[in-house]
Amino acid sequence: MKRVIRFRLNTRLYEEEVQDEALALDWIRSTAGLKGTKEGCREGDCGACLVLMGGRAADGSTEWKGVTSCTLGMGDLDGRHIITIEGLAADGLTPVMEAMLDEGASQCGFCSPGFILALTGFLVSGVSIDPVAAMAAVEGNLCRCTGYGSIRRAAATLCADFADLPAGLAPRLALLASRKVLPPELAALMASPPEALGVAEAAFASIHPADPARVTIGGGTDYYVRNPDPEPDTAPRFSDQAPEARAIRKALVSGQAILELGAAVNTDDFFSSLLVRAMAPGIERFASDIASPPIRARATLTGNIANASPIADMTAILIALGARLVLEGDPGGERLVELPDFFLGYKKLDLHAGERIRGIVLPGEPVMFNFEKAAKRARLDIATVNSAIAVRMAADGSIAAARYAVGGVAPVPLRLKEAEALLIGKKPSAALARQLGALAYEAGSPISDVRGASRYRRRLMERLAWAHCIRLWPELRLEEELLA
Ligand SMILES: Cc1cc2nc3c(=O)[nH]c(=O)nc-3n(C[C@H](O)[C@H](O)[C@H](O)COP(=O)(O)OP(=O)(O)OC[C@H]3O[C@@H](n4cnc5c(N)ncnc54)[C@H](O)[C@@H]3O)c2cc1C
Ligand code: FES
Ligand code: FES
Repeated sequence: MKRVIRFRLNTRLYEEEVQDEALALDWIRSTAGLKGTKEGCREGDCGACLVLMGGRAADGSTEWKGVTSCTLGMGDLDGRHIITIEGLAADGLTPVMEAMLDEGASQCGFCSPGFILALTGFLVSGVSIDPVAAMAAVEGNLCRCTGYGSIRRAAATLCADFADLPAGLAPRLALLASRKVLPPELAALMASPPEALGVAEAAFASIHPADPARVTIGGGTDYYVRNPDPEPDTAPRFSDQAPEARAIRKALVSGQAILELGAAVNTDDFFSSLLVRAMAPGIERFASDIASPPIRARATLTGNIANASPIADMTAILIALGARLVLEGDPGGERLVELPDFFLGYKKLDLHAGERIRGIVLPGEPVMFNFEKAAKRARLDIATVNSAIAVRMAADGSIAAARYAVGGVAPVPLRLKEAEALLIGKKPSAALARQLGALAYEAGSPISDVRGASRYRRRLMERLAWAHCIRLWPELRLEEELLA
């Protein structure tokens, strides 16, 4: 669908008629003529097309995050600020570019704009400036030429040079401008109120009537990989354009606390939410198991669920946390479905024509939580199998409640009720871990494919069950018996 949207690209404000479903990468390169944004994999994997996207954070502040423009729909640029490599280089080389050059971190240069934008975004973000965090910030960027030693050295140089960045956004942007990381005009715009920057209001909501024929797009990180050249006039509905859709709220229903998550809550929003962290203490340590920073900044929980992959990581996590889905039909009808019941068969969902996921509801009671993922690579890989567990303990040290989820052993993600029944009322021990492992070994009907043979998946499932017990109850030192 063609329509006029309003967004800022570097320092220039655009009011532009665009094809909603078209890829931002193509528009940036072809229409805006900014060829520094490279096309590599066109699948969100390599980071060559990375741009910084500014917009409203879940808490209403303005944030800039690296996103892959090859998985970004033009319609989703409405009310956003995009920074490309040309926007950074307006006044010549920046210290990030110089560090990359000085350390020999650029050979063919194809990956370099993405690395430079990711490292610049890291300095803008205000997270703690240390080399480990800097390398985590470029986990979505691949380089085929230099090897990563030179990039690591460039990141370490930057961390040493910018160790003193102020915590507040405005002073941080001022310092980054004075040290030429950002051109002054760009930094001044970024420090200005959202209305002046042009990221306050998306025109979208008003011209966005409910329409069953429309495909709903969350972050697009799955949709655009499957539809790299979307048909014109797909007329998608971008769930991230509704202001309330990124909210995570606590509510009381019949005296019970619950968490309500909007349809556009993305993976970053979830793991950084204080409400989620209070419900499942320590859950944030699993964020880096999922995709890469630019994908996590966009990938919604609802998209992960509706994508219907048997090894979807957030789906396993949400099943263990007891998620229910709020499904909304047109016009306005609503129903609640337990997340495991939403999956009817391989890529078959309990989603009627015209329905979409409007939100997710989680029980609010605090749980002990663990997630395990076995994949061929430690980072940026999809799972061979995954598993998540949430338990509540009774005062006598026995397990009062348990939810257990597994992925990769059946056509759909599974809730293992037998495993839960085994745990409830028992005190954790190595013997219980072995029994749990035996049940997990038998779960589902794993197939053999490129990621692993069926027996290998079963064995992994057993070991992930052991890993859950070892991690949930470290004080029992179960590993000494289990791994002896
Ligand atoms: C490089 C890369 C790495 C990845 N790594 C991982 C990983 O480690 N673990 C993992 O689990 N996944 C991974 N993924 C897959 C993907 O990022 C996730 O599944 C993500 O959560 C999908 O969310 P999205 O918002 O981008 O979905 P979208 O692409 O926007 O949508 C996915 C599907 O869901 C539908 N949909 C979206 N929102 C709704 C809604 N509200 N109601 C109904 N239907 C809806 C869409 O129509 C589409 O069919 C990766 C993808 C890429 C490109
Ligand atoms: S082109 Fe590779 S991530 Fe976009
Ligand atoms: S310098 Fe060539 S891909 Fe990195």
